Amino acid sequence: MTLGASDAQGVGAVVVGERRSIVGGNWKMNTDLAAAVERADDVVAGCQALLSECDVAVFPPFPYLQAVGRALGHDGLLLGAQDVYHQPNGAYTGEVSSTMLLDLNVQIVLVGHSERRHVIGEDDELVNAKVRAALETGLNVILCIGETLEQRQAGRTNQVNVAQLVAGLQGVGTEQMRQVTVAYEPVWAIGTGQTATPRDAAAVHRVVRRSIADLYDEDTAGSVRIQYGGSVTASSAADLFAEPEIDGALVGGASLEADQFMGIVRAAVES
Ligand code: PGA
Repeated sequence: MTLGASDAQGVGAVVVGERRSIVGGNWKMNTDLAAAVERADDVVAGCQALLSECDVAVFPPFPYLQAVGRALGHDGLLLGAQDVYHQPNGAYTGEVSSTMLLDLNVQIVLVGHSERRHVIGEDDELVNAKVRAALETGLNVILCIGETLEQRQAGRTNQVNVAQLVAGLQGVGTEQMRQVTVAYEPVWAIGTGQTATPRDAAAVHRVVRRSIADLYDEDTAGSVRIQYGGSVTASSAADLFAEPEIDGALVGGASLEADQFMGIVRAAVES
């Protein structure tokens, strides 16, 4: 699918080319070991045939990474971690480094998830340090950004998202952008059952893509994938993915049910 500049909203929109969708299942602090492995087996069984057309990643809790990685095998499903610390090793009780994740065959990490920012209290500086450390060790990164309801109501949506994007990507080179996906996840939509309309989500995605073009270049902006996240379900996914700007989804609640998750992956493939 190719979106011409004239189809995109606003002056200076980036012309985007073909991008492979990426769907991630963020299991957060849920499940137990047996259920995690069972769900991973179900995702493998359901996804196998779709992986030639869509990237699929699962993000189990840290303690289950190894077992889930074993269940995923080497068949193209991506093993993801929900967070990473920026230091390689040392006296950082409770933290996990990129190299430790690589040891477990983790390929992709979430950085700056809304719950890390708003529940745990991570700021842009820490998010940026984590992004850079993960990229330097060769991990792929999903940089999560998103405005709160208060910020949206105050008309600051674009400003907040651009600021988080720019801060998160500080010091990241053009080459490294190949390893980066952006997840736009409005905080008010996460876990609330309230999804942004496809139109509203796509409008933010365009602003984000324009900012990537300003920071890097048009080619980079055209090839970076921007996922939407926030109460995505199998029934809302198709309409979201019909927007050419939306390159897949980061899924929380619905990723805990293999059937729902597979429905979202199928919608991405069919879009
Ligand atoms: P949700 O979570 O799908 O449950 O809203 C999305 C996320 O936190 O990535």
